[in-house]
Amino acid sequence: MPESRCLQGIWSSPWIFIFAASGSAVGLGNIWKFPYMLGQNGGGAFLFVYCLCLLLVGLPVLMAEVALGRTVRSNPIDTVNDLSERRIVHSAWVFVPWLAGVTGFLILTFYSVIAGWSLAYLDRAVSGDFKGITQVGATNMFDTLLATPTEMLLWHSVFMALVVLTVGQSVTRGLSAVVRVLLPVLVVTLLLLAFYSMTIGNMKEALSFMFRWSWQDITFEVVLSAVGLALFSLSVGMGAMFAYGAYMSKRMSIARACSIVVGVDLLVAILAGLVIFPLVFSFNIDVEAGPSLTFVSLPIIFGGLLGGQFFAGVFFLLLVVAALTSAISMLELFVAWLHEKFYIARLKAALFMGIAVWFVGIAVLLSFNHWDSKIVFGLNFFELLDEVTSLILLPVGAILLSVLVAWFIPHSMLQNEMITKQANHFQWWYKALKYISIPAMIVITLAGWIGV
Ligand code: PHE
Repeated sequence: MPESRCLQGIWSSPWIFIFAASGSAVGLGNIWKFPYMLGQNGGGAFLFVYCLCLLLVGLPVLMAEVALGRTVRSNPIDTVNDLSERRIVHSAWVFVPWLAGVTGFLILTFYSVIAGWSLAYLDRAVSGDFKGITQVGATNMFDTLLATPTEMLLWHSVFMALVVLTVGQSVTRGLSAVVRVLLPVLVVTLLLLAFYSMTIGNMKEALSFMFRWSWQDITFEVVLSAVGLALFSLSVGMGAMFAYGAYMSKRMSIARACSIVVGVDLLVAILAGLVIFPLVFSFNIDVEAGPSLTFVSLPIIFGGLLGGQFFAGVFFLLLVVAALTSAISMLELFVAWLHEKFYIARLKAALFMGIAVWFVGIAVLLSFNHWDSKIVFGLNFFELLDEVTSLILLPVGAILLSVLVAWFIPHSMLQNEMITKQANHFQWWYKALKYISIPAMIVITLAGWIGV
């Protein structure tokens, strides 16, 4: 299909795709979710399995999404519609991009609330509230935020307004410029903080927790959680990368671009762990604390640091921007579809979707206080959304998308996409997707569900 078919414009340089895709991948998943899941799943064993999942499942699936997006150069819904009209695939496959869109929508409902916590902490950081804070003080600060739905609502609303305004513009505009600055500054800041945290905290125990493991720590539950997090963190299984692939220049090798995105994503997650765990062990914070882990440990670092107010401000600003560059990719699928199919202005489409997300987000933030009742399986509304998206919808979406690409899209169509100077990329990727990633995802997901 000619590049001119694309309605939204092609990224102006091949590198821009890498920045935009990394912007989608790097976010709260790396700095908030990865450390607490590492804590809950026993440390080193989880990290080892997580790396394998990124490489054997995440990377091939990411490449599949991007390749499909670039082949057809349209949004995922119209792409599959188009393929079914041309009788390349059965019309039932149209269900898959819809599922992907719904998954992105549901993730955004809680992602925005957590990004709201980051905004609340940005506010506290610049006001100097972390100065000299103790572990008890940091825990109280977080508990007070959770107990104040009005404040959470304010920040959730601010964040959603930012998402709507950003997605309302064309994604090819501005995004890569922001990420190009954000990523290096984020990595350097995390490096400095990790160094500082290891100096004041318990480096030895942190490193042994993060990097030492034994075989018996690897349970099916650990593996399922790692797959879920790998998909979440790489933003695959819900069409976000598909949408970005549609804007990718043909000059870029998909294998190379995607490997870089996976590398950056893992680097940021490990750095976040190196910032948080030395403190967790020296201040006796519960490693299994869950979603509060990052928000309780970070203020302690900044509280004792010379110039801590400045660093805290910079850090939480970076976190908010990283969350924003991820959140926009969750709405992109539906916004691009509404725009391309019904010619609805992007801003209008974004506003419409944003309001719906905002409403559901209110129920999420209430589940931390007034409505913390367990709905099913002992989970409250937030936990339910988190688990259903990570452990069911993302894996199922990733499996179906991969099966579509590996078994139903004609080989020749994809081969053209994957052609690079080193032609063996294609076979390598195609086999990995068919014979490793898809079977692994199916076995792990099913085994995890029945709790083997
Ligand atoms: N990858 C993002 C993060 O790590 C979250 C995300 C999930 C973004 C799914 C888009 C789609 O924070």
